[in-house]
Amino acid sequence: MTNKKREKLISKYQLQEQIPRHIGIIMDGNGRWAQNKHLPRIAGHRAGAESVRTIVRLCGELGVQALTLYAFSMENWRRPNQEVQFLMRLLKKYLRQELKELNRNNVRLKTIGKIQLLPNSVQQELHYATQQTAHNKGLTLVLALSYSARVDLIDAFKKIEAEVQKGTLRAETINEPTIQNFLSTAELPEVDLIIRTSGEMRVSNFLLWELAYAELYFTPTLWPDFREQELIQSIQAFQCRNRRFGGLKNVRGVQ
Ligand code: IPE
Ligand code: IPE
Ligand code: MG
Repeated sequence: MTNKKREKLISKYQLQEQIPRHIGIIMDGNGRWAQNKHLPRIAGHRAGAESVRTIVRLCGELGVQALTLYAFSMENWRRPNQEVQFLMRLLKKYLRQELKELNRNNVRLKTIGKIQLLPNSVQQELHYATQQTAHNKGLTLVLALSYSARVDLIDAFKKIEAEVQKGTLRAETINEPTIQNFLSTAELPEVDLIIRTSGEMRVSNFLLWELAYAELYFTPTLWPDFREQELIQSIQAFQCRNRRFGGLKNVRGVQ
């Protein structure tokens, strides 16, 4: 996406220049969307994949640097086997179908979470798509899969402990960047905006460390209905917030 095209989109949608660098989305409400239509829950997940397509493309076009999608939580393993299996198949299908499109849009794929817990065939597909998009310089699409922010923090602490044991890190020097550097999101920009769909107002173990000063946006819209206009509205809302970061100055948009 050239800068000119980006400028055009920004003016078309009446946005300001300050686009969030990193957006995290808790994509919730697929089941309820299907239930409202008297369809099986899996129909909601299928429709949700369409929203993913739209949102990934638009984020890329707007110049968002990173988009982290909460696609499957560690706690989601508690769901009935049939639903879990369907979600795994859907993920594989999405990766296969979207690879070309991701490359065309210059999107780099990354995953966070306990990927080793996913079925082998899904791991292979993820590995392949990650490799095939590694050179892309546009949007970084981060899929949070089998993800738990608490587990991510525990893993970081264990790695830090190992460094201290080895003598390559001194415990007294541990500070915020140290912790950040050992998280799975280490190389990503600050999370500016967290969106949760479906009207639930909780973070359900998503990016707990990273959301310290993120703006939170909750919408009753169910994920399969969250499309272009909804994303634009959330960015407009973000651009109206006063971010103070504990100080007294109002900082609009990104810092
Ligand atoms: C979000 O939709 C998708 C996943 C968590 C995998 P849900 O499946 O949680 O939908 P609701 O919350 O039951 O409506
Ligand atoms: C959060 O949604 C996880 C994902 C969107 C992947 P859930 O539907 O699992 O969250 P809770 O159980 O309502 O908190
Ligand atoms: Mg849910």
